[in-house]
Amino acid sequence: MTEVRVPATTANVGSGFDCFGIALSLYNSIRVSETENGLFIKNHNASEYISRDENNLIYRSVIRAFDEVGYKKRGLKISQKSEIPMTRGLGSSSACIIGGLMAGNIISGRKLDTQRIFELANEIEGHPDNVAPALFGGFCISCTDNSGLYRQTIRIPHGIKFAAMIPHYYVATKKSRKLLPDKVSLKDASFNIAHAASFVYAMSTGDFENLGIYTQDRLHQKYREETVPDMKFVFEKSMENGAKAVFLSGSGPSVIAVLNEKDTAFKDKMLKCFKENDIRRNCIELYADNVGVISRSL
Ligand code: HSE
Repeated sequence: MTEVRVPATTANVGSGFDCFGIALSLYNSIRVSETENGLFIKNHNASEYISRDENNLIYRSVIRAFDEVGYKKRGLKISQKSEIPMTRGLGSSSACIIGGLMAGNIISGRKLDTQRIFELANEIEGHPDNVAPALFGGFCISCTDNSGLYRQTIRIPHGIKFAAMIPHYYVATKKSRKLLPDKVSLKDASFNIAHAASFVYAMSTGDFENLGIYTQDRLHQKYREETVPDMKFVFEKSMENGAKAVFLSGSGPSVIAVLNEKDTAFKDKMLKCFKENDIRRNCIELYADNVGVISRSL
């Protein structure tokens, strides 16, 4: 049996639309074993719906790895125990894809290198920003062009932690992407390039003083307010309650606040504020995961 543990991720991180991602300390633990025939899928988190047939994303990813190396499939038994809420913008699908590809690669004889697994994950997901940190951990910057797929990883320095404010409602990434314009102004594009580059500086040096500036964005967040109507309110209250920075997690609807790692008040203040204003969001504190996916054969 192969066991794989994959972290949740937050993509975009404000200014790094479609290229930034950070791995977070919330996990999907996936077990895959071969059987004589058939497919058996078990989800230990009964509150989340997952398909139990060949449409299952972990299954499809295992098979993608098999096909890549010409491994003949037999039966499969897949089980997952996930802490990552689905369709909330915290990389639940990337965790399934990375988990499936890693398990498929191990079962079929470890013939794929990590770069190839990254490329296959990008093909399945359609963008690299979540799959990169799920695979490599830390803060990842991904870059695609006709010559290939590139990625840089910066280990997140000490000094910060994260608060994920996860709503009861969900938003499908496909729907959220439809809200984005086909064209943006040169001014807005240049705004994001400058801010994203400054964010990379902050992560490389541990100089977190202006994180709230460097995560500013003009390319996607404002267009997504339609599907995340409480976003502006949560942003404002987060900054009032001491966050260093705040941004939409991926395509939302979760919102991530970056906190000083010594902060002990933010979570309770936000939960109180949500209660008083009838905002149905949870708030959980998370740390950066600088390791990424881990696997073992049992
Ligand atoms: N970069 C993607 C988006 C992330 O913003 O649509 C989706 O999780």
